[in-house]
Amino acid sequence: EKNGYDHFMLKEIHEQPTALQKTMTGRFNKEQKSVEFDELQWSTQQVEQWDKITIVACGTAYHAGLIGKHVIEELTRIPVDVEVASEFRYRRPIVNEKTLVIVVSQSGETADTLAALRQSQHLGAQVLAITNVVGSSIAREADKVLLTMAGPEIAVASTKAYTTQVLTFYLLGIYLAERKQSISKEYQDQLLESIAEIPNKMEEILEHSSSIRWYSESIKDANSVFFIGRGVDFPVSLEGSLKLKEISYIHSEAYAAGELKHGTLALIEEGTPIIALITQEEVSEKMLGNIKEVKARGAQVLGIAGEEKMNIWEYVDECCYIPNTLSIMTPLLTVIPLQLISYYTSLALGNDVDKPRNLAKSVTVE
Ligand code: M6R
Repeated sequence: EKNGYDHFMLKEIHEQPTALQKTMTGRFNKEQKSVEFDELQWSTQQVEQWDKITIVACGTAYHAGLIGKHVIEELTRIPVDVEVASEFRYRRPIVNEKTLVIVVSQSGETADTLAALRQSQHLGAQVLAITNVVGSSIAREADKVLLTMAGPEIAVASTKAYTTQVLTFYLLGIYLAERKQSISKEYQDQLLESIAEIPNKMEEILEHSSSIRWYSESIKDANSVFFIGRGVDFPVSLEGSLKLKEISYIHSEAYAAGELKHGTLALIEEGTPIIALITQEEVSEKMLGNIKEVKARGAQVLGIAGEEKMNIWEYVDECCYIPNTLSIMTPLLTVIPLQLISYYTSLALGNDVDKPRNLAKSVTVE
């Protein structure tokens, strides 16, 4: 069942290139120049009726939603809110016929997300679900469904379901942008080309996974690990931090790097491990500034950057490079080393990787 892998999580990490490939198959028109979603059939007029989009989810799916916000806003200029389902459902959310609500759930059974879906419909919103399970409660009740093709995910820690959700947000962003004519044809072509190349680039990172394994040895005894990033690197940091907490039980936090000065720097001491994502060119100088700040306080920094940023080794203690891609697309690649770091750390600590303590795969209680 595990196909020769020691754990489902490692198997599922390695299945990501295929899962992404399956999720994008059939989603492009013949010339590969645009995205098609037969399930949606939305016209320009329909898309223009929405004055905002609200994404609702829990845990890792919420992190996918944060990337979704970045992508949709960037490509369409439609304002997007992202909310944790357990918060959304217990307040009076501002959602109506002019809102598109997108719920994201691997299992399609998460109680809070399902409640948020029902509440949104009650308030008059159209609900689109992004889910991995056909016939799940969320898939059945949503107005429209986009299925991720991750296949069954057994490990409690979500990996391939997450990256297929993120991929779906890129496809959806392009689909909406085309209807709104909010991006140029050239940029759309570039985006589609980059998407098609992602599975191979993921494969490249996975082939070098042993070069990431050693890093786990250096953090396994840490009291606390920090992840920092700016732009789309920030939600990926949140996801990396959640993975690490979930299966290694090491305290960890993720920060938008500009926030360090507003409190967190007090926690940085000699030897504190920091994982810094540095893929966003417009803010890379700012990131390097933040790295200097933490290094001045003794932090040990692992920098994760695109291959074009080879010079980061001058600023950090260790580096990990990901293949170059469009800057908006890096979340699909940077998360792979983070998943591997949490896997190998959990393994080094002798934890039950696939069934971490206190957690269930699908949270069907409130
Ligand atoms: O099935 P769902 O996507 O609705 O699950 C949501 C969260 O419970 C889930 O993503 C959780 O955070 C994962 N165990 C994280 O790895």
